[in-house]
This record gives sequence, C-alpha cells and structure tokens, in this order.
Amino acid sequence: MISPVLILFSSFLCHVAIAGRTRVCPFAGILENGAVRYTTFEYPNTISFSCNTGFYLNGADSAKCTEEGKWSPELPVCAPITCPPPSIPTFATLRVYKPSAGNNSLYRDTAVFECLPQHAMFGNDTITCTTHGNWTKLPECREVKCPFPSRPDNGFVNYPAKPTLYYKDKATFGCHDGYSLDGPEEIECTKLGNWFAMPSCKASCKVPVKKATVVYQGERVKIQEKFKNGMLHGDKVSFFCKNKEKKCSYTEDAQCIDGTIEVPKCFKEHSSLAFWKTDASDVKPC
Ligand SMILES: *[C@@H]1O[C@H](CO)[C@@H](O)[C@H](O)[C@H]1NC(C)=O
Ligand SMILES: *[C@@H]1O[C@H](CO)[C@@H](O)[C@H](O)[C@H]1NC(C)=O
Ligand SMILES: *[C@@H]1O[C@H](CO)[C@@H](O)[C@H](O)[C@H]1NC(C)=O
Repeated sequence: MISPVLILFSSFLCHVAIAGRTRVCPFAGILENGAVRYTTFEYPNTISFSCNTGFYLNGADSAKCTEEGKWSPELPVCAPITCPPPSIPTFATLRVYKPSAGNNSLYRDTAVFECLPQHAMFGNDTITCTTHGNWTKLPECREVKCPFPSRPDNGFVNYPAKPTLYYKDKATFGCHDGYSLDGPEEIECTKLGNWFAMPSCKASCKVPVKKATVVYQGERVKIQEKFKNGMLHGDKVSFFCKNKEKKCSYTEDAQCIDGTIEVPKCFKEHSSLAFWKTDASDVKPC
C-alpha cells in the first residue's frame, strides 16, 4: 500500500539517490497513534516504533533501512486494543454494555453487571477492558438466604410472608405500649446472610419528678409537659441544680435506660407552696 506521505517524498528521494549515492529509505517519521524513534532514514540505520496507550503494535517494533532503500521488515501500524464481548457470570445480567468497536469494546471501556433477585454480588460490578485485550475480573453472584428474624420481647416483627427470606428482604419492628425501639425500625438481609443490627424493645420511663424545668435537645422544657406520655428509652435531659456557696446554677444529665431514670442527687424539687424560693433554672449559670 502506498501512503500519501510516501508519494510526497518520492521526488525528494530520487534527488538524493542520484546526487549522493546515499541509499535513503522512504520517510517513516510518522506513526499514527504511536511514535517513531530515528536519527535518519538512510542505510544502514534502524528506526523503532511504539504505540500510544490503547493501541498495540501490529508488526515489528523496529525496521532497518536496507541497501536497496527499503524498510525491512515492513513498517508496522498501531491498531486499537479491543476486548471481545465479556462472558456473563452465572446468576448475573449485563446492566450496562455497549460495544464501541463493532462487536468488541475498546481499551478502558466498561461493562456493569447486576445479580438476579435473591443473589448478592461478590467482587466489583464494573469490569474494564485492559491493555491485554481482556476484561478485569468478573464478579460473582451467589444466592443468599437469611434466617427469619426473631420477635423482640415486648414487641413485634413483620417480614414478607414467604417460605424463605433472601438478600435485600426487609423486616420491620415495633414495640408494645410503654416500650420503644432500641435500634432501627427496618433491617435488611445482608449479603453475609444475616440481619444488619437486631433491634430490641426497651421500657419507657415515667417522669421521675412532679415538675421541673430541664434542658432537652438544647431547649428548656417543662418535663411534666414535654414527657406527659413518659420518656422513651434513651431520652436524655439535664436537670438544674444550685451551687449554694456561689449562688449560681449548673446542670446534671439524666437518661431513661430501659424503664429507669435516676434524678441527679443535687436536684431539689420545691413544694409548690414554697413560692418564695427561686427555682435553680432561674438562677444565673455558674
Ligand atoms: C457481530 O456479530 C454478529 C453475530 O456474531 C455478526 O453477524 C456480525 O458480522 C458481527 N459484526 C461485526 C462488525 O463484526
Ligand atoms: C470497581 O471498578 C471500578 C472501575 O474499574 C473502580 O473505579 C472502582 O473503584 C471499583 N470499585 C470497588 C468497590 O472496588
Ligand atoms: C488478562 O491477560 C493477562 C495477560 O495475558 C493476564 O496476565 C491476566 O491474568 C488476564 N486477566 C484476567 C482477568 O483474566
């Protein structure tokens, strides 16, 4: 095949050959999608070739200019690296795949798999066409079952009514009156075949004092009003206490843990008849 470049230089070559008797080979300084290393194109020099990433050398990586003024062996080309259509793991489907070179894919193209329902993926869902013309490692899809989640004490659990629970199936939990959930309301069957976190029901607390101003989630509230339906497991409030010497107030925390809350010892509840006393919550902070 005669390239346009070759035609362009042929008149120049005749000239040199006649004038100096130097044996010169056709110009070979350009390799599409690659590079050529050379000093001159004269006998008996050798030039060498390399291709850009994503291309491979189809031909020899060097050529010598012969006495006859020809390249030996013939000049190579840089051809794009391609990967054949990927094989598909069992229990998987191709979610994203678009061959970009006929039926094949080019270097760095990707394909994405997903597993059939009830199956979990192990490995990367995305494969990439490599410089070797093959794909990176395929993921695996395996069927994953979870045991039926157990009912928490003082509560209940709901899950799909079917003989077996599988990966990504969900269970939801609730508690009877006077109890609240410790943990998530909804859990999912993980790819390890177990449930991520198992919630339990913890008893709520009765408000432990008749009345008090406390801090709850950064706000001052009246405990007897805010928690008239009881405090939930985990609810935390800060009571105000007085420092008598310094005539100032400070706070101490109390938390409802499974039906029990301990009022800080420093907290003093006034009788509603003792109207002349200033409540600790109205005293300036220490
Ligand atoms: C792609 O594959 C189909 C079926 O194997 C074949 O008929 C077709 O010629 C191929 N196309 C190219 C561009 O190779
Ligand atoms: C999966 O492969 C892609 C592309 O090869 C990569 O970008 C990604 O980080 C990989 N993900 C994981 C979780 O290994
Ligand atoms: C791709 O081919 C290279 C070179 O032959 C090989 O080393 C590698 O293990 C292959 N990769 C995969 C995922 O088969």
